[in-house]
Amino acid sequence: MISDNTIQEIKERIDIVEVVGDFVDLKKSGSSYKALSPFTSEKTPSFFVSPSKQIFKCFSTGKGGDAIEFLKEVESMSYVEALKYLAEKYGIEIDEVDSYSPQNTEKESLYIITSKSNEFFIKNLESQDGQNFAKTYLDHRGFSSDMIKEFGIGYSSKDWNSLFNYLTENGYEEDLIEKAGLIIKKNNKKYDRFRNRLMFPIHNLSGKVIAFGARQIKEDKKQPKYINSPETNLYVKSDVLYGLYQSKNDIRKEDKCILVEGYTDVISLYQIGIKNVVSSSGTSLTNNQIKLISRYTKNITILFDGDDAGLSASLRGMNLILENDLNVKIVSLPENEDPDSLSKKLDESKFKEFLKSRETDLINYKVKILNENYKNDPVKKSDMIFDIVKSISKIPNSIKRSVFIKETSNSLNINENSLITEMNKLLINKNTQKPNKILKEINDNENKIEINNVINHHERECVRMLVNYGKSDFEILGLDRKSFIEYFLREIEDVDFTNKSYIKIIKTFKEEFQQNNIIDINHFLSEKYNDIKNDVIDLSTSKYEISSKWKEKFNIHVTDESDSLKKTTYNNILRLKFRLIKKMINDNLKNLGSDSETYSEEEVINTHNKLKSAEMEIAKQLGNVTSI
Ligand code: GTP
Ligand code: MN
Repeated sequence: MISDNTIQEIKERIDIVEVVGDFVDLKKSGSSYKALSPFTSEKTPSFFVSPSKQIFKCFSTGKGGDAIEFLKEVESMSYVEALKYLAEKYGIEIDEVDSYSPQNTEKESLYIITSKSNEFFIKNLESQDGQNFAKTYLDHRGFSSDMIKEFGIGYSSKDWNSLFNYLTENGYEEDLIEKAGLIIKKNNKKYDRFRNRLMFPIHNLSGKVIAFGARQIKEDKKQPKYINSPETNLYVKSDVLYGLYQSKNDIRKEDKCILVEGYTDVISLYQIGIKNVVSSSGTSLTNNQIKLISRYTKNITILFDGDDAGLSASLRGMNLILENDLNVKIVSLPENEDPDSLSKKLDESKFKEFLKSRETDLINYKVKILNENYKNDPVKKSDMIFDIVKSISKIPNSIKRSVFIKETSNSLNINENSLITEMNKLLINKNTQKPNKILKEINDNENKIEINNVINHHERECVRMLVNYGKSDFEILGLDRKSFIEYFLREIEDVDFTNKSYIKIIKTFKEEFQQNNIIDINHFLSEKYNDIKNDVIDLSTSKYEISSKWKEKFNIHVTDESDSLKKTTYNNILRLKFRLIKKMINDNLKNLGSDSETYSEEEVINTHNKLKSAEMEIAKQLGNVTSI
């Protein structure tokens, strides 16, 4: 348990920009910050952080909240995990951080077990055996003590049960130790998964140990060189990159991520000062891993061994990177070298020079292979050309595509138009939208996502009041109207709702009211309303959830919503009107400078002035000009 005082202290110290900034590449935009959403793979930023309100909002997924909520979403932390993470970040002491108690969630317990195990392995490295076997090996490979510390490298002893015994003696349950992937049970026997190996802990983005990679120390062809933790509740292989926790700040600083194959490659490059490096640990790159990288940079350089049989896997990875609209370069290393071995021959600046001189983009790399190998084999050649065009067609950005097509045409001496024709065939299959429509959409997107989401929210809040309180009565000071419904219908008379369900709900209330019937949710349960029934139910059940999410912004007090019904309804309708006017202002301004002949500049400005004064009027009534 964390005391209320500590929680208070943590909350006071949090700066949401710093917290989010550790995970997302934030760009200042006016008084707030924006970024590509870490929750989707979007092309236009719709993720906002407001330092003044200390909240984030993701308009593509609808997620939003404070720094703690952010950590819960982005790292699937529990509330307590998030608090502990923040305490560590801001150097705030909390009691019993590592307390292991039955109240912990399973995930929390697993984190404690993996981190305890890592401590155990690190201590082992200091033991006699650890020094004799593991440390000697590390020295021999040239890993400095700084790197051993930075990457938390440890040693698992030769014993069959040393980790298991250590953990159970410290009160950790067998069941959980197994779930953490640390022991193997076979024929009623159990033994440590990792024995007599160098232990490389794998961290998540917040620096917690979630799994291990383990390398044999003495070569033994009967055993795999590396064994890894199995997938667990904490460790999903395809979502993790080795080294990212250590390298993320440098990746952002260098605006580039170097992707290598192995654990030791990461550490060796890091040691000579090339710190923007990660590894997918021997597996082929996944979409989620690319998304992780794209939080920090759009530029990936893949280094692969010169004699790599897995080149085709690298090539697949590269196509995937292109599809995600990131830039990918490739560096093939000289035969019999890997980044680790090269790092022993080149210092930081030489290595950087080396990368610079060798970096090729994927398309040119393929062109090079083609020219070197298949020039005189027409069948292979045409296959390869098709493959190149296919890679180009995966690039979402049309300008980049044209540049690559042109380059390919030049270097292979093939007519550009026939390449374009081939590419268009592929594109048409993939995408039936007209290109100019897509462009326009991208341009409009940023505004549209925000405004439409907000308007939809306000519409929803208004209709929600109607559905929940349609039967209520209240007095409006100084006015003789008594029923909610009458008041509501009159207030929204001049408001055009956009959501079809909401329009129908309001229409139904209105028609019934004109027949002197005041209806409520039960009215919508008949067949006749099948198309909107779910929406009505949703509106009637979600009031607290929605209100609490937005209450910070709008100061709606959930508990007394129905007490202050009048005020809340009034405010909700005003807010919707306010947003609609803002949208009208935006839409109107789009007529400026457009070549449509519908409106003269004078008309646009006139309308603008009218809308602006209406906006002011409503803002005054709202009492505050809340902008979101
Ligand atoms: P060193 O030989 O210590 O330099 O390791 P390395 O990282 O250079 O190994 P290598 O290039 O042979 O392999 C690259 C990556 O593939 C490793 O870091 C591991 O993640 C993975 N790998 C290599 N061998 C094995 C194996 O036998 N089993 C498993 N599961 N993974 C392996
Ligand atoms: Mn190696």
